[in-house]
Amino acid sequence: PAYLPLAGKAIIVTSGPTVEPIDPVRYIANRSSGKQGHAIAAALARLGATVRLVSGPVSIPDPQGVSVIHVETAREMKDAVEQLLPADAAVMVAAVADWRAESEAGQKIKKRPGGAPPALQMVENPDILAGIGHHAERPRLVVGFAAETQDLLANAQLKLEKKGADWIVANDVSQTSGVMGGDRNTVRIVSKLNVEEWPDLTKEEVAARLAQKIAEALETIAT
Ligand code: C5P
Repeated sequence: PAYLPLAGKAIIVTSGPTVEPIDPVRYIANRSSGKQGHAIAAALARLGATVRLVSGPVSIPDPQGVSVIHVETAREMKDAVEQLLPADAAVMVAAVADWRAESEAGQKIKKRPGGAPPALQMVENPDILAGIGHHAERPRLVVGFAAETQDLLANAQLKLEKKGADWIVANDVSQTSGVMGGDRNTVRIVSKLNVEEWPDLTKEEVAARLAQKIAEALETIAT
């Protein structure tokens, strides 16, 4: 477009899964294609924003016009995101693993004949969105996602508060929805004031609308 409403605005986006090592050959990860997060990064860039995308491992290409930092673990993602502050907005789309193995074995854990499976001791990962939502250098606009299989709106409302976000983009990822890995998404934008229901759209269309909404919000929220 000739008019670039996000020109001069710095926006951080996270996308993809995080991958948490158990030993040199094994990991725990979340299911995430990166399609929605990457599409949002590209849509923001098309509106003129300076977009920094922090992405976990995905099989899709880096989006056009965006500078990408590739990470694996939640801790790496958190460090990368915090290094990118200050920013005008942050859109946290990544499917961050809630837990990781307490310690990564230095050597491959061996399977022994008749041996018991290893007991995995897990610890909680940092919540990157909550860290940004409550940060001293909090961006003016903080957007989180909520992939839920039940009680979508109630969970999204709780998440707004807990994570210090302005909006939660809530989507139903129950098995029948086909969102996971698919090309379409049906979302609701939950803010403190209201809930916007969007129709069933492609992930590209969701990204374009969200980028437009972010541009409008940054025009009205005082610096
Ligand atoms: O709590 P839940 O995982 O459902 O929250 C989802 C939102 O929080 C997403 O925006 C996701 O990117 C973000 N998140 C995060 N760090 C975590 C867990 C979730 O940034 N450790």
